[in-house]
Amino acid sequence: MKTAQTIAEVRKIVAGARAGGDTVGLVPTMGALHEGHLSLIDAARSACDFVAVSIFVNPTQFAPGEDLATYPGGIEADLSACEARGADLVFVPDVETMYPRGAVTSVSVSGLSETLCGRSRPTHFAGVCTVVAKLLNIAGPDKAFFGQKDFQQLVIVTRMVEDLDMPVEIVPCPIVREADGLAMSTRNQHLSATCRSQAVALHVALESAAGQIRLSRPPAVEVIASARDYISTNAPDGEIDYIQIVDPQTLRDVETTDRIVLLALAVKFPGARLIDNMLVDSAAEPQ
Ligand code: PAJ
Repeated sequence: MKTAQTIAEVRKIVAGARAGGDTVGLVPTMGALHEGHLSLIDAARSACDFVAVSIFVNPTQFAPGEDLATYPGGIEADLSACEARGADLVFVPDVETMYPRGAVTSVSVSGLSETLCGRSRPTHFAGVCTVVAKLLNIAGPDKAFFGQKDFQQLVIVTRMVEDLDMPVEIVPCPIVREADGLAMSTRNQHLSATCRSQAVALHVALESAAGQIRLSRPPAVEVIASARDYISTNAPDGEIDYIQIVDPQTLRDVETTDRIVLLALAVKFPGARLIDNMLVDSAAEPQ
């Protein structure tokens, strides 16, 4: 496995792989890798000949006052994990490499970026799109792998790539969870023991909402109210940012649940804002 700090090195190494006929997969990350990230490397490994991982804590997707300063690091462990999962190249740029003249150019996908997490993080997705566009331009992969854990990010990046005619396939990968159902997240390590045990309520609420939809397809407002009740009761240290039921393509709120819907939520605990989601296709379930 090679590591590269500069854009020129990445281009050279990827060009070498391409010259040998390899297809190229890219897994963009911000490091502090866990099994969720590593599952993307596995997916890339099975779909592509050459697998590149990027590790870059992108400052432009954090607003002032968010957790950029406390975002976990641990590059040595990350590099060993990438190597163990069969990555061929890890790109570890610094901020100067990615934004040598500041960040005056940005890519934004309007319509999809203002809802869900965009309401409390209005500048977040422009930061994500900009850095992802840069990483795709730097590595030039055939496929890039994104987790459904960040469903809104996946939808937005897919739309960006389509709208800007970028020659890459965005491959969605399923959410990897802890044994008790909590979605794996780098930010989970900032939870106190009490909050960690309460945090399972997010997944339980989503499962229960999915169960209600499959059983009787109630109006979205009823499902949301019951999820809200469950989380308020069972995660008293969490402050609900949003619980929404949306169309998984447009991310717009839906009123009825007799279709494929995305249940999505965000809850702020002291030290960590957690997100989770679940796709539910009530039409595919027996009544
Ligand atoms: P990061 O939070 O490090 O996540 C990197 C990738 O891992 C994302 O595609 C995310 O959806 C995926 N991922 C995280 N937890 C997961 C889980 N439990 N199951 C499955 N996939 C999971 O997302 C970012 O970084 C950044 O916004 C980035 C795209 C790298 C741009 O800076």
